[in-house]
Amino acid sequence: EPSWIDATDEDSVPDDDVVGVLVAGRDIALYKVEGSVYATDNICTHGHARLCDGFLDGYEIECPLHQGKFDVRDGKGTCAPITEDVRSYPVRIEGGRVFLQLG
Ligand code: FES
Repeated sequence: EPSWIDATDEDSVPDDDVVGVLVAGRDIALYKVEGSVYATDNICTHGHARLCDGFLDGYEIECPLHQGKFDVRDGKGTCAPITEDVRSYPVRIEGGRVFLQLG
């Protein structure tokens, strides 16, 4: 059973926006959409761009480099030039903190 890792304060993830956090040495993007928090790897699968520098539109994050898109709920690539999904991680909110299962 993978353990839950305390990533950050829930309040540090703004509504309908994305932030980058280092969690256990890994670069993770956290998103908040309609009050729920989602987590994916922060580095795009297409090139070396950080998704936290991109634009969140609903449940889709647009990469800042070539405008590829992913669904933040499951990491699925939804728009060219993305050919590989980005990893997404289970999120749990407890006591105002965001916990991730990085597996
Ligand atoms: Fe993200 Fe190219 S680096 S779409």
